[in-house]
Amino acid sequence: MPGPIRWPAWFGGQTPVAYGADYNPEQWPEETWAEDMSLMAEAGVNLVTVGVFAWARLQPTPQDWDFGWLDRVLDSLADHRIAVDLATATASTPAWFTTRHRQAALVTDQGVRLSHGSRQVWCPSSPDYRQASLEVVERMASRYGDHPALALWHVSNELGCHNAVCYCDQSAESFRAWLQLRYGDLDNLNWAWGTDFWSQRYSAWEEILPPRATSSFGNPTHRLDYIRFSSDELRGQLAAEAGLLRRLTPEVPVTTNLMLPSAWADLDYSRWTDQVDVIANDHYTDSADRRRHVGLALAADASRGLGQGRPWLLMEHSTSAVNWQPINRAKAPGELQRNSLAHLARGADATLFFQWRASQAGAERHHSAMVPHAGPDSELFRQVKSLGADLARLAPVVGSETVAPIGLVVDQNSWAASRLDCLPSSRLDFSARLRAWYEALWDAHLTCDVIPSNADFDRYRLLIVPHWSLMDLAQADRLRDFVEAGGHLVATFFSGVADANQRVHLGGYPGALRDLLGLRVEEFRPLLAGEEVNLSDGSKGTLWSEPVQVTDATPLARYLDGPSASYPAVTVVRRGLGAAWYVSTQLDSAALGELVDQVADQAQVPRIDAPADVEIVVRRGPQAQYTFVINHSEEDVGLRFNGVDLLTGDSGPVIVVPAGAVRVVEQRPS
Ligand code: GLA
Repeated sequence: MPGPIRWPAWFGGQTPVAYGADYNPEQWPEETWAEDMSLMAEAGVNLVTVGVFAWARLQPTPQDWDFGWLDRVLDSLADHRIAVDLATATASTPAWFTTRHRQAALVTDQGVRLSHGSRQVWCPSSPDYRQASLEVVERMASRYGDHPALALWHVSNELGCHNAVCYCDQSAESFRAWLQLRYGDLDNLNWAWGTDFWSQRYSAWEEILPPRATSSFGNPTHRLDYIRFSSDELRGQLAAEAGLLRRLTPEVPVTTNLMLPSAWADLDYSRWTDQVDVIANDHYTDSADRRRHVGLALAADASRGLGQGRPWLLMEHSTSAVNWQPINRAKAPGELQRNSLAHLARGADATLFFQWRASQAGAERHHSAMVPHAGPDSELFRQVKSLGADLARLAPVVGSETVAPIGLVVDQNSWAASRLDCLPSSRLDFSARLRAWYEALWDAHLTCDVIPSNADFDRYRLLIVPHWSLMDLAQADRLRDFVEAGGHLVATFFSGVADANQRVHLGGYPGALRDLLGLRVEEFRPLLAGEEVNLSDGSKGTLWSEPVQVTDATPLARYLDGPSASYPAVTVVRRGLGAAWYVSTQLDSAALGELVDQVADQAQVPRIDAPADVEIVVRRGPQAQYTFVINHSEEDVGLRFNGVDLLTGDSGPVIVVPAGAVRVVEQRPS
C-alpha cells in the first residue's frame, strides 16, 4: 500500500510539507521554463502538479502523440529536485475529440448539447470518452511510471466541477442499468419513487428517462436517484483511471482533487474515498464572506473528516484573488500565510496553489498565482517565498493528526434532497445551516471533524447532526447505540423525517428519531422571511418552528410566541450513558454558542481557553504536539505555553501572537 506521497529518493527519506502549485508550462515558451525552475527553488517549492489540461498538446490529432515536451519538463523538474504530482491529463478533451464524438458532449436538462470551447464538456457516461481517456492514462503511466520525479498520480481534475450531471441518451441508458442494479425489478422502483402519484407509474425500463425539463414538479426520488447515479458515474471514471494506474504502477499513490464542501451537495464523496490513497481538496475563500477563514476551516475539517482524521493534501488554493467570483478580492497582507497554515493546522500535509505562474491568456488570466503578472519582483512573490521558508520550519508537523473530539455529521443524501423543490420551506439552506453550527464550534475554540453520515461515530464524544432529514431506521439505530454507549448527540429540526428514498416515516416527526429524542411533532411550522420568535430563555428563533410534544424529553426552552407558542423549542433526554438534544428552530448565534458550550461541557470535551477570533488547533504526533495559533483579531495576544514556536523560535511561558500572525508551538513531553 503506497504512502500518501512517494517522495523521490533525493529527499533522503525526509518528509517535507509539500509546497507548490499547478504548473502549466505548455502555456509558456520553453525559454520561460528555466526561470520557472530557479524561481521554484527560491520559493522552496518541492511538488508541482503537471499536465492537468495538457491532453490537446499530448495528442494533437487522433493519430499523433507528442510527449517530448513533457519529457523535458519532468526531466528538468527532477534535475531541480522538484517532485511531480502527475495529472492523467484527461480533464478536458481536445477539440478533435469533441468534434468527432459529438455524442460524448454534455446535454442539459433542456436537451441542449454543449459545444467545445470551455473545459470538462464530456459526459461521464460516454463510452467514447472512457475509451479515449483511458488510452491517455495508459500512455502516461507506461511512459512516466518510472520517472524519478513522479511522486503521485492526480486523476483528472475536480471531477464533476462542470459536468456533474448530463441528460443525454447515453446517460439515460446507463441510468436504467444503474436502476436495475439498485431496485432489481420495476415494482420496487415504482414503490420507492411513489409513482402512483400523478400517474407516473412505469411499465418498462425503456420508459425511464433522465429527469429532463418537464411541466411542473418532477418526481423527487427520480431526481434524487439521478443525482446519486451521476455521482456514481464520475466515481466510475475515477475508479477506471485509478484501477489502470494501480495495475501499471502499483507503487505510486493515487489521488484526485475534491471540492469540499461545496460539491459535496451533489457528489457522494464518501463513496469515492476507497479509490484514492490520500484525500486531496481544493478550496477557495469567498470574497463576499466576512469571516471567510471560518469557511476555510470548515472545508479543511471536512477534508480531514472524509479521511477519518488522517492527514490530507491541500491540492489548490489561491495566493490572492480568483477570477470567477462577482468581485475578486485580493488577499490582505498576511492572509496568504494565515490561510495556508490554517489548512496545515487542520491536517493538511501539503499546501499547493492554483497556479505557479499567472496565465497571460485564457479565461483565468486574472487569477492570482505564485508568480504574478508583475513577476518575481513583487510583494506577492516575496510572501510566497516567506511561506516556503515557514513550511520548511514546519516539517516536523507532517504525519501528525489533528485532535478533534467532535463530529459534525453531514448526510450527503439529505443535503442533495434539500436542494430539490416541494419542501416545507425553501429557506432551509443546508449549507448555511451547516456553517452556522460549524461557526458556533469555531467560536468556542472547539475542533470538529466534519464527517459523512456513514463514518465511524465511536471516535467522538459529541455528534452534531444538522438536518439529517432522510434517515433509515438502521441509521437511527446507529445514533441510538452511540448515545446509549455514552455519546452526546444534538439533532435539529427537519431530521429523521423520511427514509433514504424520501418516503415519509408515519406516526409523527422526527420519524426515525422520535423514540431516541423522546418527542413527537405533528406538523412543521416554518417561519416567513423576517419572522422571528422569542424563546423562554431570552433567545430568538428564525426560519422554522415546531409544536414539540415531549414524551420523556425535558424542555430546556419554550416558544413564547409565533406559530408554535407555548410548545418546547429545545429539549434534552438521557438515554443509557449519554444524552440527546433536539433543537426545533434556527437559534440566533449567541444562543447557538451557549448551547454548544453547554453540550460540550456535558460531553466533557476538553477546551482551550483563548480570546475571540483566535484560532487554536492542535496536531498530535508520536514525539510532540503542535498547537497552531492563528490570530484573526486586531489585537496582539499572549498565550501561556511551555514550548517553542517553530516559526520564530520564541519560547514560553508566554508566547505573543501579534494581530494577524501565526505561531506553531511545539510541545514535547518533559
Ligand atoms: C479549480 C480548478 C483549476 C482552476 C481553479 C481556479 O480549482 O481545478 O484548474 O480553474 O479552479 O480557481
